[in-house]
This record gives sequence, C-alpha cells and structure tokens, in this order.
Amino acid sequence: MEAEKYSYVEALRWLAAKYNVEIEESETSPEYKLQQQVADSLYIINNFAQKFFTDNLFHSEEGQDIALAYLKERGFREEIIQKFQLGYNPEARDGFTQAALAAKYNPELLQKAGLVNVRDGNTYDNYRGRIIFPIHNQSGKVLGFGARIIKKNDKAPKYINSPENEIYVKSKILYGSYFARQAIDKADECLLVEGYTDVVSLHQAGIENVVASGGTSLTPDQLRLIKKYTNNLTIIYDGDSAGIKAALRGLDLALEESLNVKLVLIPDGEDPDSYVNKVGTAAFIDFVNANKKDFILFQLGIALKDAGSDSTKKSIVVNQIAETISKINKTEDFTKQQDYIKQCSEILKIEESGLHALVNKFIMETVNKKQTRVNRDQRFTEATNNTEQGVEADADVTALFNKDEIHEQAMIRSLLEFGLKNWIPPGQEAIEEQKVADYIFKEIEENQLEELIDNKELVRILKTYKAWYDAGLEPGTKNFLYHDDLPMSALVVSIMDFNYEISPNWKTHFEGHIATREELFAEEVFSTVNYLKLRKIKRLMDENQRDLEKATLAEDQMMLVQTHQHLKQMEIELTRQLGTVIFR
Ligand code: UTP
Ligand code: MN
Repeated sequence: MEAEKYSYVEALRWLAAKYNVEIEESETSPEYKLQQQVADSLYIINNFAQKFFTDNLFHSEEGQDIALAYLKERGFREEIIQKFQLGYNPEARDGFTQAALAAKYNPELLQKAGLVNVRDGNTYDNYRGRIIFPIHNQSGKVLGFGARIIKKNDKAPKYINSPENEIYVKSKILYGSYFARQAIDKADECLLVEGYTDVVSLHQAGIENVVASGGTSLTPDQLRLIKKYTNNLTIIYDGDSAGIKAALRGLDLALEESLNVKLVLIPDGEDPDSYVNKVGTAAFIDFVNANKKDFILFQLGIALKDAGSDSTKKSIVVNQIAETISKINKTEDFTKQQDYIKQCSEILKIEESGLHALVNKFIMETVNKKQTRVNRDQRFTEATNNTEQGVEADADVTALFNKDEIHEQAMIRSLLEFGLKNWIPPGQEAIEEQKVADYIFKEIEENQLEELIDNKELVRILKTYKAWYDAGLEPGTKNFLYHDDLPMSALVVSIMDFNYEISPNWKTHFEGHIATREELFAEEVFSTVNYLKLRKIKRLMDENQRDLEKATLAEDQMMLVQTHQHLKQMEIELTRQLGTVIFR
C-alpha cells in the first residue's frame, strides 16, 4: 500500500494478480458486473490501440516522416516518446478501424472508447492524422487518449480527447500521474502544468514530479489523488494562459484539504515545455523556486487589480478573500490562517480585526450549514416541539449530550473568548460588575469542577485561566497559544477549530441574518455551562437508578425515589431554561 500508494483493496488485487491467486469478491449486482466487463474490454481495446499507434509512429513511413519528425523537431527524444508510449494515427479514413475489426474487436466498444466514429453506417478513425498521447491510470493501464493535430487547422480542434466512459472519467484523471507518483513522493511536491507536452518535456528534462490537469479547474478527486503523495502543490502555468483562472477556481477546495498551494507563472508567452527547452533543467528549477507565489495572495492581487478603485468591487474582493481564508479551517493550519488574515489585511489596507470577524462569519456559516444537516438527521424538529410543549427531555434531546467532549470544549472556548465581557443573564441587562469568567467560575464551584468536566487536560486549561484571572491578569486565547506548555497550547488551538458542531442555538439564527458568535456570546456561555450541568444531573440520575435497583429496605427505596424526583425536577427546569435559549 505504501510503495504504490494503493488502497487496501487495490493492494490486495495487485498482489493477487501478481501471484495468480484468485480473490473471492463478495457478491455483486448484475449491473455492476456488466459495468466491470465493459471496463475490462475497454482496457483491452485501449491496449491494442496504443500498440497500434506506437507501432505506426515508429514503423510506418507516414508515422516516421510526419509524426516522429514533428516530435523530434520539437525536441522530444526517442526514449521519452517510448516511455510515454506516444503514437500516431495515420491519415487514412479507417486504417485503425480495419485493424481493430480484423482483430475482432467489438465496433460498439470501439466507439465507446472514442477510437472510431460511425457516420451513415460507415466506421472510420476518430484520431486521423494525429499524435496520440495515451493516458494511464495509477497502475499503468491505458484509460484513454489525447490526440493532437499536427498541421495547424482552424476548423479542427487542437486536441481530441477520449469521451467519458466506464474507465475514462476526466474528473478523476491527472495526466502523467503514473510516471510521476514516485518522484512526487520523493520530492514531497507535485508540479501541476496545463498540457500533455509540458509533462513529457519536463520529464525529459529530468523533472519527473509533474502532472497535467488539461487546463481545467482541479476537481476534488484530482486533489485527493495528489494528496495521497504530498501536501505541496505547485502550479506552473504560462503567464497569459486563460487557464490560470480556471486553475485557481478549484483551489478553495485545496485549502480545505490542507494542501499548500503555490503558483509559478512562466513569462513571455512561454509554457513549461518551451521554457524548459529554452533555458534548460537547472535554470528552470531555479526559476520555479525563485518565483513561487502564495496562491491566496496572488488571487488577492489579481482581484484587486480587476477591482481598480471601485469601492463596491473592492468590498466584494474583501468578502471573497475572507471566504477563501475561512476554508483554512483545520487544526494544524490555525497559525497559517492567522498569518493570512494579517498579510491580507495589510494588502487590503483594512483593520486586521475587521477581516478576522469576517473570516469568522464565513466559518460560522459553514458550521451552520453542517449543523442544520445534523439536526435534520436527528429529527431535531421533533425534539424541539416536545420541549416547547413542556414535555420532558426525550431520546432525541439526550442524543445531543452524547458528544460529551464537544460540550466540554465549547464551554472552555466560550470562557477563553468571552471571559472578560460583562455577563448578561439570558433575557436581562448586562451586569456591570460581573464578568463572564465570574459567572462560569461560580457555576463550576457550585457544581464541582471534576463532576462537570471529564477531560483532565481541559480542567488544566480552566485552572490555568483561573490562576491568571485571580491574579488580576486578563487572560485570553493568545496567552495559551504562546504558552510554553505545548500540550496545553496545542489543545487550545484544537478547541479554537470551529470544525465541529457547536451549541445548536446557532441553528435558529440560520435563516435570515446570521448572527456572529460575538453577538450571541451570552447565549453560548449560558447554554454550554448548562449542558454540562444537565449532563451531571443525568449521570446522578443513572447512579440513583442503579442504587434503586439494588435497594432492599423500604426507607432506602423511599429516599432514592425522592432523590429521583428531585433530580428529575432539576432536569426539567434546566431543559426548560436551555430550551428557551436554544429553541426560541
Ligand atoms: P495547450 O494548447 O497549451 O496545448 O493546451 P499543449 O499541451 O501545450 O500542446 P502544444 O505544446 O501546443 O503541442 C493545454 C492542454 O489543454 C487541453 C489538453 O489537455 C492540452 O494538453 N486541450 C487543449 C484540449 O483538451 N483540447 C484542445 O483543443 C486544446
Ligand atoms: Mn505547449
């Protein structure tokens, strides 16, 4: 799996094929079986076609005189042409078609593979007079072809590519990935170029960690393919290519996948192929290393230039960049996100805190959307109705408490972020002399810390905060982020990650204005503390229940039942209070 970057199943199949062991696949549907059969046939046909085209390139007179001469003229040497299995489809109407039919290949499948066309009942070659670039899958089998015209022709497209079929799925393919995977792994970097010829040329120049996207924006599947090998993606495009914007389009996704994306623009109307031919390998590598631009800052640069002095357009740019930055939302990238906010606000000449708030808003929107989904899944509306009608908490509401750790984290997070604000009890005025921290510590004291919070590390954060606070300092997230105690600061960073479900009270604000956490801080503090209190009560009730089952003496039973009723009363009261905050 490691060596070939296979999934478990792929590795198993590979081994089985290598040692001729039959693997029993679990039963599959007839449709799936049929699809597999078609896929297998297409691989066989493509294999035949590739051999035919390569043979023609090297051994037919037409191939040598026209195609091979053209390729050599462009600087491609034989060994690289062989390695990439390039080929040539002759000019004649049906040279390939005849060969394929004579070899008894099925005409329909030939058509499906995109190798032949049928018009008026006649079958003829689809790639007539074109250089053929076979496109390989991760194990080197031919998925399809890109066919380049040789003579300039305004009527015909420059490239004809295979049509989508059972094996050629464009969104999952990166040209050259079969030849590049080991080099990408070794270099821990993947270079992305636009064209087939760029890949082949760079390979020839000894730069092998390179793949091509075909000039379209990257898809999630392609990003995942890259991520199997490396986290570092360097896009190398020609400076005035129309493809740049397309390339940048898919990249918010790359951020979500935590890829580091850099951009290099090749100058003066050159593309990577022509440029490496012009300056040579060493200078090409130097150029790339010296000209890696950060892609977010680059995007910002382009957008700002487009916007000019139009302030409406500028504010759109600010929003876009905030949204992009908000996608960097993984624990390990926290500092990266902070860095971008700083740099971008400098470039935009706006307050850092303003951009910060905007980024948070986009993060919250994402969380809200996720939350709404989760709620629907949990039949949340039912739970809501029940609570509103004063019915006691039922299973659906209880389900919300299963994410124990999340609620503990949410409470600590609201302390870190809002601890120094004046406390506002729900539905009341702010209390000047009481801070959120005072409120939280009072509640915790009354309910006993250890019984409220299970996670010892979180308890440590809380105690550290309290020590600072009691000493008259004004602690906040920053004090923890830069704290020498690395496990503790790492935990704080992960708490600051918004990428989990937070208190459901956000949900109600989903339609219409989306309130920021800042605006709703009092509700957040109140509900996170109360969730933990409610959880404690539930635990006490469970314990009580167990005691009740064991109790034999009448007066013990009596007492336990009373305790139960008391706890139940508290539970209902708390749920009601929570309900008015959460569900209103
Ligand atoms: P380019 O026009 O840059 O071609 O298109 P190229 O690969 O550099 O080829 P040369 O160097 O001019 O011979 C970049 C990529 O866009 C896709 C192909 O994948 C091509 O490699 N493309 C381009 C098409 O799919 N169809 C087209 O008609 C043109
Ligand atoms: Mn080119």
